[in-house]
Amino acid sequence: LWVSTTDGRIKGWNWEARDEENFVTLMTEKGWVDLESAEPTGVSHDAPRIGIKVIKANEERNEFFFPGFIDTHIHAPQYPNAGLFGSTTLLDWLNTYTFPVESKFGEQPDPNTGHQTKTDPKDTPIPAQQIYDQVIARTLSHGTTCASYFATIHVPATNALAALCHTRGQRAFIGRVCMDEPKFCPKYYCDFSADDSITATRDTIDFIYSLDPKGRLVKPILTPRFAPTCSRPALKALGDLAAEFDPPLHIQTHISENLNEVALVKELFPEADSYAGVYDDFNLLTRRTILAHAVHLSATERKLVRERESKISHCPASNSSLGSGICPVRTLLDEGITVGLGTDVSGGYSPSILEATRQACLASRLLGYTAEWKEDHPDPQEDEGREKLSVAESLYLATRGGAAVVDMAEDLGGFDAGMLWDVQLIQLGAMKEVERSPLETFSNGEESLVAAGPVGNVDIFGTETWEEKIQKWVWSGDDRNVKAVWVGGRLVHTRS
Ligand code: GUN
Ligand code: FE
Repeated sequence: LWVSTTDGRIKGWNWEARDEENFVTLMTEKGWVDLESAEPTGVSHDAPRIGIKVIKANEERNEFFFPGFIDTHIHAPQYPNAGLFGSTTLLDWLNTYTFPVESKFGEQPDPNTGHQTKTDPKDTPIPAQQIYDQVIARTLSHGTTCASYFATIHVPATNALAALCHTRGQRAFIGRVCMDEPKFCPKYYCDFSADDSITATRDTIDFIYSLDPKGRLVKPILTPRFAPTCSRPALKALGDLAAEFDPPLHIQTHISENLNEVALVKELFPEADSYAGVYDDFNLLTRRTILAHAVHLSATERKLVRERESKISHCPASNSSLGSGICPVRTLLDEGITVGLGTDVSGGYSPSILEATRQACLASRLLGYTAEWKEDHPDPQEDEGREKLSVAESLYLATRGGAAVVDMAEDLGGFDAGMLWDVQLIQLGAMKEVERSPLETFSNGEESLVAAGPVGNVDIFGTETWEEKIQKWVWSGDDRNVKAVWVGGRLVHTRS
């Protein structure tokens, strides 16, 4: 293993590294460093280091390194609602569950005193800090090394989320949600005006740049919630704001998730060619735009998304939970659109991208039964089964796909030389005598052959290929398999 000691990047691989128990000697920029005499890894990702402690993957316990997961769409303030959606669909789910919980993350902007300008995270109400800290800890424990977060309209709480990501060491895009259209937003949770929406957004951008001037770990992302919550002046101002920066700011929003939503957008924006056209009219479809869901895009809209090089966050758990539909991922990929995975907590019930990976596989296995797919593929022989995503493809979406979605394909998602060490160490478990739990002893006293690990049934006969082990991990693994997580070379989570 050959890792840079100063910038947390992989310099290359060298299997001839000298192996001493849990340490190996590394070839670093400063030459060979004997790690046992080297200073321990710095506590801050900015701290200079002369050595990195290397934990080797233990093959006997079926351990392996895997690129950190990238959650391209998650709502941090909705975490308290994960698992709470009943039988609602998008528009009534927003009013019943989502706007009420998000509104609790701060004060409504005061029309007399103007926009909120508090940027000190200490001003944030305690519950917001606690909940955001829990979201970061929980997503890290599931191997999410990078997340694109929607926060709320509140500047102090949004800044607190950015500060917490920075402190805990999770790579993050932080979006202060813009929603100023009183025709759709509830009175108790709405920006005071388009101007206020933009000023508050600028406050958050300033705070994030003061926290992390080079955007090494935490970056701002413009976040018009979705077309129905945003006035035309706000959409226009956000498109202009993105272009003011060099490189232009990242943008995230929702698109074409639910059929009633699509109909509503058509009614609210009669002048636009389509839902995607609304965003395009305000210069919000850029190569740094993340569009969440994209379940019901027309062929013309997909062509526009492709031309603008905008990216799509596929959120299969959410699409099933809210009954939104099945996203035609194969069609998007065939047409050259970049796709990553999102948990969409709490439209999605789980903060785990491993769960999103398996839900992406499952949803794709049902896609062939939809009327739309049948219409586009009239000859059942020709493309039979093409719609199905393999485990490998779905894991690609969770890592390299996500990296491309956040415009960091050269830095994240794999183990290429030059990439950042954003990595999870996965342990599937082993057949070791010592690891057998008493519960796995049969009632007649004989010990079961079940391997006692978090997955529990891996390689019982010692004959499985790594491909087969990985399949078992995806279908039945969880956060108990995540033994350690690093971001930019910094250890940010361990499970003992
Ligand atoms: N559309 C507008 N807001 C939301 C949200 O919070 N979650 C989802 N899934 N869709 C949305
Ligand atoms: Fe969402």
